Amino acid sequence: MVTLRSGRLDEAESIVGVWREAEAEPTTTDDPERVRQLMAADADAVIVAEEGGRLVGTVIAAWDNWRGGIYRLAVVPDHRRRGLGHRLVDEAVSRLRAAGAARLSAIVVDDDEGAMAFWTALGWYRQPARARFVKNL
Ligand SMILES: CC(C)(COP(=O)(O)OP(=O)(O)OC[C@H]1O[C@@H](n2cnc3c(N)ncnc32)[C@H](O)[C@@H]1OP(=O)(O)O)[C@@H](O)C(=O)NCCC(=O)NCCS
Repeated sequence: MVTLRSGRLDEAESIVGVWREAEAEPTTTDDPERVRQLMAADADAVIVAEEGGRLVGTVIAAWDNWRGGIYRLAVVPDHRRRGLGHRLVDEAVSRLRAAGAARLSAIVVDDDEGAMAFWTALGWYRQPARARFVKNL
């Protein structure tokens, strides 16, 4: 049985390992120390899916007191298409709603057909006429 719960500080390496195993598009912030910092600041922000002691999925539900951001959604390949991604997003949405969020967003690689189909299947929509500007510090 796959259980969803908040990630623990001592799991930061395994959490980053799930992103690698899931071949989630690498980002500059894929770093266990940053994951620990996030968990220390908000113990509910990192959600993990665990089965028999193994982490098989993750999602970050980040509330910045203005909007809710969903990041690092990942399900390991041997657990896909069983509704786990959907469960993880539902849990993230419910935590962000409880925190006070009224609008949520997720960044999706636009040529990743599986990820695009996933978010569309969950009823999210792609916002037209907006671009994301980023700056690495
Ligand atoms: C995207 C991802 C999280 C989906 O996880 P999952 O557990 O397989 O998703 P679910 O089983 O909850 O899928 C829910 C629905 O989304 C759609 N969907 C999910 N994956 C899909 C795919 N590869 N192709 C087409 N539709 C897909 C389907 O409609 C599915 O329902 P169905 O299985 O009844 O047809 C997973 O494929 C993954 O980790 N991918 C690599 C990392 C990534 O792309 N992350 C998302 C970045 S935003």
